[in-house]
Amino acid sequence: MNVGIDIAAMATGHYALDLRFLAVARSVDPRKYTTGLGQDFMSVASPQEDVVTMGVEAGLRALEHVSDPTTIRLVLFATESSVDQSKSAGIYIHHFLGLNPSCRVVELKQACYSATAALHIATAFVRQNPAAQALIIASDIARYGLNTSGEPTQGCGAVALVVSANPRVLVVETTTGVYTRHIMDFWRPNGQDAACVNGRYSALAYLEALSKTWADFQCNGGGSVGQIDFMCYHTPFTKMAEKAFARHTEIARSIQRGGQYLPAFLPSAVLYGRRLGNCYTASLYISLLSLLENTAQDLAGARVGLFSYGSGCVAEFFTGVLAPGYQNVLFAEAHTAAIAQRALLTVSEYEAFYTQSRDPVCVPEVRYYTGPLCFLGVKDHQRHYRLTLCNTESCTQVRLVS
Ligand code: HMG
Repeated sequence: MNVGIDIAAMATGHYALDLRFLAVARSVDPRKYTTGLGQDFMSVASPQEDVVTMGVEAGLRALEHVSDPTTIRLVLFATESSVDQSKSAGIYIHHFLGLNPSCRVVELKQACYSATAALHIATAFVRQNPAAQALIIASDIARYGLNTSGEPTQGCGAVALVVSANPRVLVVETTTGVYTRHIMDFWRPNGQDAACVNGRYSALAYLEALSKTWADFQCNGGGSVGQIDFMCYHTPFTKMAEKAFARHTEIARSIQRGGQYLPAFLPSAVLYGRRLGNCYTASLYISLLSLLENTAQDLAGARVGLFSYGSGCVAEFFTGVLAPGYQNVLFAEAHTAAIAQRALLTVSEYEAFYTQSRDPVCVPEVRYYTGPLCFLGVKDHQRHYRLTLCNTESCTQVRLVS
């Protein structure tokens, strides 16, 4: 039975910062960000946006193509920007999407990797329950700290993946290569809002994990590099994905001498990433969407290689085959509009957002641009949201008041 991604949608914060302005404010040559890291903008979440609001926006979009949402019997919420130590943020999502109560909901964590764990759990669930569907929401806000070397790689975004039998987007193949090793390249201790990172070490660890997962993929009977048509990599910044492709090519050439066929790594696979920044758990799947929605050529039947990396670290290499007519269930126009319509911040406005509490005191009104769900704040240790029940386009008419 073919199982995989039936629908894929994304959402991002409703604000953005042009990294050329950040470079000027940090006395850095802008080309370091735009060429050295390969990033043009970062998406910024206002104090009224969080992983739940972005997840609900992506989820609502995905549900537009689900004919019977009651068949969703498993919701997996992947994040490393969790809003509670106990309750899964997936339950808020389940609530605001109005899903069937006869459903399992759980939150998964392992840095940027957990959405990939969710995908494999979901495909196994559907293989056992072919009439059911699973919904994966991967949602994150990447934060490193003002004036740190990680700052220009911040970003935020969410993806919603509906996993089903006979999927309309990507048939996920069962052979994978995995790798786990205890390292301290990136982590976020309890009570800390921003990640701790050994930045250059993390980039080396990422590349080592790519080599290890590729070797494991081969040991497990995975095909040769020549059987993969296109690559998508976890994209903390687009230059990292380019380095991953260069490493991948190097490995392939050393194993299979001669000028054999290599997969393509198209600029379209990082187009959204260049504009959004790191979206942690969502990044790899935003790269997949970016490839599908920004490549004019029909890729149906092509095999895509996907490399997922989560610091700490766990990584996985796997493949999927694109379904005929996948274009019919994409949201290319809505995604392009959401990215283009973000309100541009000045550096001081971005810093003001950054320094505000991520758990502000609850207010009764919507103060910032948001999607269909607004985070009003915290009262009596409980998070309060308002579902505006309007579409994203009209919600963006709400004016910024501070
Ligand atoms: P840095 O150390 O300040 O930058 O921060 P750099 O000095 O290494 O320069 C970066 C690149 O810009 C270099 O290119 C420079 O040459 C170039 P490279 O040599 O690497 O090809 N450059 C210029 N290019 C053009 N014009 C110029 C110029 N100046 C310099 N004038 C670092 C870089 C990535 C370390 C930092 O941004 C950081 O710490 N980022 C966060 C960590 C990260 O993203 N790591 C990636 C791998 S780990 C991962 O992906 C997991 C993660 O997503 C978390 C999770 O799993 O949850 C992060």
